[in-house]
Amino acid sequence: MSGAATAIAHPNVALSKYWGKRAGSGRFPAVPSLSVTLSGLSTRTSVVFDGSAAADSLLLNGQPSSFGDLARAVELLDRVRAAAGEVRRARVVSRNDFPTASGLASSASGFAALTLGAVRAAGLDWDASRISDLARRSSASAARSLFGGFVELDAGPVAPTEDDVLSARVVAAESAFPLVILVCVTTAKPKAIGSADGMATTLAMSPYAAAWLAEAPRMHLRLRDALLARDFVSVGELAESSALAMHASAIAAGVIYWTGATLDVLSALRALRASGVAAYATIDAGPHVKVLVRPGDAAQAGQALRAMGGVERIIDAVPGEGARLAQASDQVDESER
Ligand code: PMV
Repeated sequence: MSGAATAIAHPNVALSKYWGKRAGSGRFPAVPSLSVTLSGLSTRTSVVFDGSAAADSLLLNGQPSSFGDLARAVELLDRVRAAAGEVRRARVVSRNDFPTASGLASSASGFAALTLGAVRAAGLDWDASRISDLARRSSASAARSLFGGFVELDAGPVAPTEDDVLSARVVAAESAFPLVILVCVTTAKPKAIGSADGMATTLAMSPYAAAWLAEAPRMHLRLRDALLARDFVSVGELAESSALAMHASAIAAGVIYWTGATLDVLSALRALRASGVAAYATIDAGPHVKVLVRPGDAAQAGQALRAMGGVERIIDAVPGEGARLAQASDQVDESER
């Protein structure tokens, strides 16, 4: 057992959103979700179990990580060590090629890459489903980034225990539904309210929390059917509705991720649709807007969005593959240590 592995994972964007967790431990989502894994953005994470290291360490984009990020990584590494009988501490080096912690799903790709890297570095021969379940215990959306294409994560059991298992699964392959996702980056600053706090506040304080929890599973099923029927307009409309319903319930609890630029992009999309371009929005726990278009409309929609003042840059993404190990030849990049 080498004790080292490097994994690459992509973020995913939920078309039908999860927002809210079941009470109790395990980070079980309260509603089902369906996401698309994004090529064009990636996280690359090296894990080395090192007998000479006194404590776990985490270097994130070249900087020692915050105490909170390290604590979450240690929690995961402890689970992997317990499963593998590994006693050594780990050196973890992780890099994103997109803005971190600003609502661009860095926790999804980050924990997917860290989970796969740690499991393999510890010599565990687990399949993607088991790794997805472990990733979910660190970040529910990370469970989906283990897989490529269009991926579903069910709601957790109503009263979950640590022993309950919940993995994501593939609904349709990358090539099944032609789609371009224009990630409109409106700011590179870290978000003010993390998603865990934002969703907990929403469930505790929002007058619309019950409506969200009742409606989200219905939207999810309709979106899943539309995706399998290859109905682009219905997928776009339902994805935008899911994001707006999630944010409406959050905003009513004072959890506001949007900025003026977010609203400007939403109205630009209405104008695009009025001119015949089927372009739809989805928005996660941050100010950025991810625009869903058919491949043939991507150039025209991108041109209109690039011309807007509040959009700093646009990252073009298409459905991508799941988390995987880097090539054996570049398993541990010495320059990143
Ligand atoms: O699991 P987290 O903490 O990354 O929360 C994800 C929440 C959303 O991105 C807003 C929705 C989703 O289903 O990914």
